[in-house]
This record gives sequence, structure tokens and C-alpha cells, in this order.
Amino acid sequence: MRRQQRDNFKRMYTLILMTIGCSGLAIIIFTLVIFYSAMDANRRLTIAYQPVSNKPASEEAFIKYGEELVNHTSRYLGPNGEIKSVSNGMNCTNCHLDGGRKMFGINYAGVAANYPKYRNRSGTVVTIKERINECFQRSLNGTGLDSNDYELKAMAAYIISIGKGVSRKTTPYGTGLKSLPFLSRLANSEKGENVYRDQCAQCHGSNGEGKRDGSGMEWKYPPLYGDHSYNIGAGLYRLSRFASFVKYNMPYGVTYENPVLTDEEAWDVAAFINSMPRPSKDISNDWPDISKKPIDYPFGPYADNLTDEQHKFGPWLISLSY
Ligand code: HEC
Ligand code: HEC
Repeated sequence: MRRQQRDNFKRMYTLILMTIGCSGLAIIIFTLVIFYSAMDANRRLTIAYQPVSNKPASEEAFIKYGEELVNHTSRYLGPNGEIKSVSNGMNCTNCHLDGGRKMFGINYAGVAANYPKYRNRSGTVVTIKERINECFQRSLNGTGLDSNDYELKAMAAYIISIGKGVSRKTTPYGTGLKSLPFLSRLANSEKGENVYRDQCAQCHGSNGEGKRDGSGMEWKYPPLYGDHSYNIGAGLYRLSRFASFVKYNMPYGVTYENPVLTDEEAWDVAAFINSMPRPSKDISNDWPDISKKPIDYPFGPYADNLTDEQHKFGPWLISLSY
């Protein structure tokens, strides 16, 4: 009898000990889980990644996320993008240098104050989100995003934040690109090929193919022509845009205050690169009012009687119209 009582007591005692032990273990596991998920949330925060369904933590985090997308577009939205696949593997910042903050590196400072705006290329009033999508469809040779898309809104928020405080309809110095004076001769793609070999090929590759970074997800040196480059509807396909970009930004590291290429070299290398193969695009609806076509836009019909070649390579006697 007493023995049975003792056994019962022992069993109860063991049970209590086990319960305490288990709860202790549970507490430890619970703490660890919380700790690691906090670490994971932290890691996400450092890459500013917000799952599509989540509401942003704050306006500031939303803008940071937009900046992350502009700087690492391909990682999230490229051919093997973590979120979607809507673009060709380039990052916005490959052209909008320093995330659109570099002076004359296709700088975003004028965007907030000037959009929505009427654009002659589309013949419509274009919002910031629509303008971003134009770059997706042309410069990134992709499809573009739905107007309610979370990532599109985040990129717009970031771009707007760069132009914060700029008065309506004004464009601060350093915005966009710095235009180059026209040449009095044709832009020469043979001379441009020499410029390319001497000053560009060591980074962009002997066939303009670029070089990927270690992850394989982004470009260390983006391509300048071929399948992975911008298409014929992109801004850089116009010689004046390309020459202006290159003169004041390339070889990499150059600024508008200390350019390396002469104006002639910039025009010639533009002629060479934009004579090489690249993806096509249906651009038949662009510039519906043909009298508004920029002089260096090489697809007819035209309001003048110059040929495609003359429009593409110059020499242009009349000023560009924007
Ligand atoms: C291959 C180069 C290239 C890439 C990549 C590119 N863009 Fe652009 N973008 C341009 C050019 C060229 C212009 C027109 C600049 C001009 O004519 O002043 C432009 C214009 C813009 C403008 C309008 C600027 C203004 O002041 O009116 C916005 C906004 C923009 N891009 C957003 C983006 C975003 C966002 C991405 C990435 C999803 C992107 N772009 C990727 C070349 C590029
Ligand atoms: C030292 C390496 C280097 C040299 C030399 C160089 N580039 Fe670049 N280039 C880059 C890098 C890096 C980027 C992308 C910048 C970024 O993502 O911040 C770039 C971007 C570009 C872009 C816009 C993105 C694209 O691929 O369409 C063009 C156009 C360009 N370079 C043209 C040239 C031309 C033309 C030359 C020669 C005159 C040249 N580059 C020389 C490193 C170089």
C-alpha cells in the first residue's frame, strides 16, 4: 500500500518535473524563434524587401524600397526576378546613374515637378508611373507593370522624393541630360568603332555584350548592343541622347565637369553603337504629330524630306525640338 503510494508520488513528481522541463524548453524554443524571425525581418529591412501583399511600414521604408528597386531592378524584376519577370536584366541605375542622383546622369530631380506632362512621343499626358513603364518597355526591353503595382508605386515614390521641394514646372540644373552641340559633319560610325575599342571595350566587352557581376543576376558592365540591351524605341537609341549621356558620364567615373571624350568622339561612338544590332519594338504609334519628331529620330514618315540616314547621322542644321 505504502509502496504504491510512493510509486504514485514518484510518478507525479516525474510528471511535474517533465512538465516544467518541457515548458522551459518551449520557452527557449519560442525565444529562439522570435529572435531569428526578428533577425530575418532585419535582413529583409536591410534589402528593404516588402512582400507584395504587405503594407509598407512607413513612407520612408516605402521610398527606400523604391530606391532598392531602381538600383537592383534585375534582382527583383529581371528575367529571373524574385518578384516578377518584366524586364531585360538591366537596372534603372545603369543609365540613371547613382540611382538618378548624378548631375546630368539622366538625373531624376525634375520629374516630380514636371509630371504628369504632355509628351510628344506618345501624344498623351503621361504620369510618372507611365513614364517609368515607358523605360521598362524600351530601355529595359520588357513589358511594364500594372498601374496599381506595389513595386511601380514604390519606384515612383522614390523618384518623387528626389525632386522634393522643386517648384512646379521648373527643372533644376543637372536634371536629365546635358545636351551637346551638333556636329557640322555626319556622325561617323567607323571613327566611333575606334573610340569604342580604345575607351569602352575594356568594360563593355569587345562585342558590346557587357559583363555580369558575381551573382549573375545583374551587370557589372551593362551591355551596349545585342539581345540584352535597350531596344530601338529607347531614348538612348537617338544619337543626341546617347552622345550627351556618354560625353558627360563615360568612360565610367567621368562627370560633366571633367569630360574625357571630345564632342566628336561622343557623336561618333553614338553612331557606332546605334548601328549595331539590338532588340526591335513596334514604334508605329510614336510621335503621332510628325512635325514634333526630333531631328535625330530615324523612323519616318517625316515632316521634312531628309532620309532615314540623314535623320540618324546628321548633319542637322535645325535645332532639336523636345
Ligand atoms: C538604357 C538606359 C535606361 C534605363 C536602363 C532606364 N532608363 Fe529611364 N530614361 C532613359 C533615357 C535616355 C531617358 C530620357 C532622358 C532625356 O531625354 O532627357 C529616360 C527617362 C526616364 C524618366 C523621365 C525623366 C524626365 O526627367 O523626364 C523616368 C521617370 C525614368 N526614365 C525612369 C526609369 C526607371 C524607373 C527605370 C528602371 C525601371 C529606367 N528609367 C531605366 C534611359 C534609361
Ligand atoms: C571602367 C569601365 C567602363 C568604361 C571604360 C566605360 N563604361 Fe560605360 N558603363 C560602365 C558601368 C559600370 C556602367 C553602369 C553604371 C551603373 O550601373 O552605375 C556603364 C553604363 C553605360 C551606359 C548605360 C547603360 C547601357 O548599357 O546602355 C552606356 C550607354 C555606356 N556605359 C557607354 C559607354 C561608352 C560609349 C564608353 C566608351 C566611351 C563607356 N561606356 C566606357 C563602365 C564603363
